[in-house]
Amino acid sequence: MKDVPNDGPRHVAIIMDGNGRWAQRQGKPRLYGHHAGARRVREIVEACPDLGVKYLTIFAFSTENWKRTQAEVSGLMTLFRRYIQSEARELRDKGVRVRFIGDRIRLDRKLVRMMDELETMTAGNDELHLTVALNYGGRDEVARATQRLAREVAAGRLDPEKVDAETLARFLDTCVLPDPDLVIRTSGEARISNFLLWQSAYSEYEFVDTLWPDFSAEHFARVLAGFGRRERRYGAVLT
Ligand code: FPP
Repeated sequence: MKDVPNDGPRHVAIIMDGNGRWAQRQGKPRLYGHHAGARRVREIVEACPDLGVKYLTIFAFSTENWKRTQAEVSGLMTLFRRYIQSEARELRDKGVRVRFIGDRIRLDRKLVRMMDELETMTAGNDELHLTVALNYGGRDEVARATQRLAREVAAGRLDPEKVDAETLARFLDTCVLPDPDLVIRTSGEARISNFLLWQSAYSEYEFVDTLWPDFSAEHFARVLAGFGRRERRYGAVLT
């Protein structure tokens, strides 16, 4: 800890965990928890500008989440479509630029079209950069990036001797985003679960016990305040 607080995090990434448990504790189906989770997404997005957060990246669906029951997967996909439909205009009008990361190939074509449209209609915004990870996995992202990079090498457009970490980063889904300063995971689990593996090399991590549907803007503000008291060294020794 250092005496003078650093600035708040500019880029916050969140693993929104605990929807299922939250619902089950109330004797409700898991999808009920996901719907409550979606309402929290709205609240946290709205809180960002006042808290100085310029980039928010949220883990909505992982490459591993396909292993859930068909009912839960299709319920989540419907929820994503409805979310885009109901929030698009407000996101645009509030100056939020929305991007999606992850592999779109396995996603429903209608959903992909809606994602593309939302990206296009918010492309001129700069108040908050909201990135939604959908069918996203960190290893899958690095593999896809490597594939694209290898194609450039094979085509003679890239010298393999000149490939370094910065080169590879240019091929990642997140190429236009800064690395996250802080990664938050809710629900008490202390795992990364394949989220932003490359990008979080120097991120701070905060694991909070609250289940995602209970994670309010006040909780969020408290976690960010805690970040301000941390000392970040990036491998160096501060004098
Ligand atoms: C993890 O909780 C949550 C998910 C896999 C889905 C995240 C989705 C939302 C918060 C819904 C809305 C998102 C958007 C972008 C509109 P879990 O089901 O793994 O919870 P559990 O660990 O208690 O089972």
